[in-house]
This record gives sequence, structure tokens and C-alpha cells, in this order.
Amino acid sequence: MAFSVRRLLISESVDASCKKILEENGIKVAEKKNLTKDELLAEIKDYDGLIIRSGTKVTADVINAAKNLKIIGRAGTGVDNVDIDASTRNGIIVMNTPNGNTISAAELTCAMIMCLARKIPQGAASMRAGNWERKKFMGMELYGKTLGIVGLGRIGKEVATRMQSFGMKTIGYDPIIPAEVVAKFGVEFVSLDYLWPHSDFITVHTPLMPSTEGLLNDETFAKCKKGVKVINCARGGIIDENALLRAMESGQCGGAALDVFVEEPPKNLCLVNHPNVIACPHLGASTYEAQERCGKDIAAQIVDMVKGSSLVGVINARALSHTVIPESKPWIQLGEALGMVAKAFAGQVNSQTKVQVATVGLSLTNTGHCIATAVTLGLLKGDSENHVNLINASLLAKETGVTVVIKHDDTVPGALTDVCAVEITTSSASHKFLGSIQTSLPVLLEVDGAAFKQAVPLCGNLLIYKAVENPQVLQFVAGVLASAGIQIELYNVTNAVDGDQWCIMGITSLLVDLNLLKPHVKVSTQLTI
Ligand code: NAD
Ligand code: MLT
Repeated sequence: MAFSVRRLLISESVDASCKKILEENGIKVAEKKNLTKDELLAEIKDYDGLIIRSGTKVTADVINAAKNLKIIGRAGTGVDNVDIDASTRNGIIVMNTPNGNTISAAELTCAMIMCLARKIPQGAASMRAGNWERKKFMGMELYGKTLGIVGLGRIGKEVATRMQSFGMKTIGYDPIIPAEVVAKFGVEFVSLDYLWPHSDFITVHTPLMPSTEGLLNDETFAKCKKGVKVINCARGGIIDENALLRAMESGQCGGAALDVFVEEPPKNLCLVNHPNVIACPHLGASTYEAQERCGKDIAAQIVDMVKGSSLVGVINARALSHTVIPESKPWIQLGEALGMVAKAFAGQVNSQTKVQVATVGLSLTNTGHCIATAVTLGLLKGDSENHVNLINASLLAKETGVTVVIKHDDTVPGALTDVCAVEITTSSASHKFLGSIQTSLPVLLEVDGAAFKQAVPLCGNLLIYKAVENPQVLQFVAGVLASAGIQIELYNVTNAVDGDQWCIMGITSLLVDLNLLKPHVKVSTQLTI
């Protein structure tokens, strides 16, 4: 799947290396910061690519207005400012640079923990105001205290190892990372119910999603140690801001350090102005090193994607990962071609359509999902209002109600190996097609269990029909084609089964009226691959 990205918009402050790398690779770049929503809606149609940080809200209406957009590149980690579903539905790749700012965000978190323990920002502000208040800013040691870490991914892990060097005990919870893995970086895996009452400091490092929104709320604050200190350098909303204010006012929470807010910049300044709150304007990734890394990474990832040499950081298109593997590319082409053949037989696909994609062969063990997506792409081509590609094919098939079942066997006794079979069942008929790769090209081997005498290359205009084995049928079909000015470039047949055989022809153009073949042909279809 080739992506051509010629014009790209950078809508936020991204390191200069990003533009330089893109331009060196022939991509025209426009930098337009602080666009209003309406300006972005008007601008976006002119671009194939968009690079953002966390400030640009790429909502469904922006995506629908982006008629040429192929890629949204996030120079950073969180993609909660991008409507991923809308991007996927429109066949747009969303990619991020998840590693570029891990260390910077972790270091800021550690700095926040230290500031909470020693009230450094409050002490500094007091001195700037001309005071000398040594008693007021009494702090606490971190040594021997417990740090509860919610989310033990990249940043959570880096925070843990750094704070261990201060003598903190680190406990943590993550629904995905196993206890034995977190034990290797010194974190005791605990349940959230254990973490709340046992932590002196709690830091959150999860994405913002329905399951993490308001993770710290009135109920969970009530379970915490009195005076617990909390840190949010992840995403605004993971700690419920109203519940936090209530906990601060009651003394249940002894201090909070916030780098992120539900609304940025926050309009309600009650939390920011609270004496026990340390607030920063979303500075987690604001270091020269992180910005340079993220800027370079996103540019290099986009350039590599356009060249088809690698696909790093893609969030919404699992099937694409195989398009950059040379051995997988022909199989993806085969899947798409078999999907188109199946569609040619089925006509319109709908909720009555069931498709099974079965691969056989050790070399295809990990490619089945990707081939199935390509089959789905072939099936939907031309049907949907949307431009169908490998990014949105599965989602659109799901919405159409088509059932796609994937099956893989490393070997099947007595059967061919390194093959892909596509079986399509509609309310009126069922057909099965077997294909493979020969000299890097997709070929059709069988229709409905009948093998062609030679493998048929799946390309160009193809006419496929089933008729009684009889030389007069060939004469008749050739006659109809000739009268339409169509030449036959390829001809192949299967052995007869119950007197009928399948024939396939490569033809110079498609017949305008396939019904002309009806008198001598039982089933027929034609397509262009
Ligand atoms: P990551 O994907 O490596 O780690 C996130 C972890 O959260 C995962 O391991 C996941 O399993 C875990 N998780 C998901 N749901 C959970 C739940 N309900 N309870 C506990 N854990 C849960 O991400 P990361 O790179 O470590 O980034 C973490 C957060 O920091 C993200 O929200 C990211 O956007 C944010 N971030 C902020 C800044 C900043 O400038 N402040 C900079 C970088 C990243
Ligand atoms: C991120 O998720 O990467 C951060 O919020 C950093 C940013 O882009 O400012």
C-alpha cells in the first residue's frame, strides 16, 4: 500500500529538525501554529499529512474535512486529542513517537515528587515575595516512604527506578504488565485496593480512556492515607479535579503536583491557586532533548512510511505492518485479488455475506490476519462511500455486517501448502477460491475445488465462467467477445467435474453485457484486478 505525502502541515511547535528531514525528502511543509478550529477546518483539505502535539484537537469534523489526509503524526505519546475511530474509518494512519519523551516526562514526575516533599516552589515564591519563612515550609524525607505507581508502562517504570534511588519503596498496578516483569525493575505488584491505603505518594502514568478517567475520585481518595500526595504528569482527568479539590480542602490529600488538566489551559484556577498545589503548563515533554527526539522521530517515521521501508509507531492499522515485509507483500496482493474475485461472484456484500479466509503453510503463520484484511479490502472495493484501504477495511466490513472468519494451519495432510483459500457464502450461493504465489505473483489455482491446468495470474481483466465441457462453448464465448471487439489474452480450464468445467480468460476489456453469454454458460462473472 503506497502512501504519497507531498504536502504536510505542522500545526504546533515541533523541533526544527522535523521540517528539515521532511523537506530533504521532498515533502513540502507548512508550519501554521495556533490555528483556530475554523482555520484548521479550512486549511486541512490541502494537506496529505498533519503533524501535531497535544494542542491540536483532531476531531471527527476535522478528519471529515481532510479530504486528502493520509497520515496524522503525533510528535509525542498521547493520542487522546485525535479521534482515532474517525481516522480509521477514513483510512487515515495515526502514528506517534512513544519513546521520545519518556525520560523527560519521568524526570519531571520525579522533580514534582521532590517539590511536593520539600515545598520548593512555595519556598521560592515566598522568598521572591521578600519573606524568610523557614518553619512554614517544613517538608518530609522521601527515604522510607512508599510511592504508589498507577500504570507501569514506559514512564511509570522510569519513575520507579529513579525514586528507588531515594530509598522509596515502589508499589504499583498495571492491568497488562505482569507482576514478574515489574518485579524486575523493583516494583511490588499490588491491587489498586492495596495501593490506595499503603502509598504516601501516588503518581499516575496511564493513558486517558474511559477506564482511567476519574481513577482517583471521592471514593478512592477516601481509601488513601490521610495527607497522601498525588502527582499527575500523564493526562488531565485521570485524577478527578473536583474530587481532588475536595480532598485538598478536607486535608485527606496533603498536596498535588499537576502538569496536565482536563481543560488546557485551565479556566477554573481553584486548583492551580491552591497553596498545596504545584502546577505546570504541560511541561512533561518540554526539554530540548525530548523535542528533538520526537521531531526527528516523527519525520523519519513518515519518510520511511512513504518509502515503504518501515512502519514504526502506527496506532490504528495492524494489517499495515506486513506491507513493509518483502515476503508478505505478494500475499497481501493475493488476498486483495481473491477478495475481488469473491466479490465478483457475490455481487453486493452485506450482512448475509460470510467469508472464511484460510491459510496453510508455516511461512504464513503470522500473516493470516493481514491477508484476511486484504481479502476484506478486495471484497469492499467499490461498495463503500469511503475510500477503502487496509486501514479501514475491517472496520467497514464490521459495520456492513460481513462476517470474516480467519483460519490457519501450518500443514494439512494431503493438501497444498503455502496457499490461501477464500470461501464466500451469500444467501444464494457459495464459492471457494484457492490461490498462491508463484514467482512473486498472485495466482489462482482452484475454483470450487476444481484445479486449473495451470496457475492463473490474478491481474488485468478476467472473465470466469462455468459451462459444460464442450469445445462449442469456447467457440461461442470467443464469438461473443470478438463481436464486442475484445481479444482473449489468456485461456485456462479446470478438469470437468460432473461434466462441467471452470474456464478463465484474460481479456483486453470487460464485456458490457455479461448476459450475452447466458445461453451456453451456467455461472459467469468478470472483473478487473
Ligand atoms: P505506556 O503506554 O507506556 O504506559 C501506560 C500504561 O498504563 C500501560 O502499561 C497500560 O497497561 C497502563 N494502564 C492502562 N490502563 C490502566 C489502568 N486502568 N490502571 C493502571 N494502569 C493502566 O505510556 P507512557 O509512555 O508511559 O505514557 C503514560 C502517560 O503519560 C500517557 O497518558 C501519556 O500521554 C502521558 N505523557 C505525558 C507527557 C507530558 O507532557 N506530561 C509526556 C509524555 C507522556
Ligand atoms: C505527550 O503525550 O507526548 C505529551 O503530552 C507531550 C506533548 O506533546 O507535549
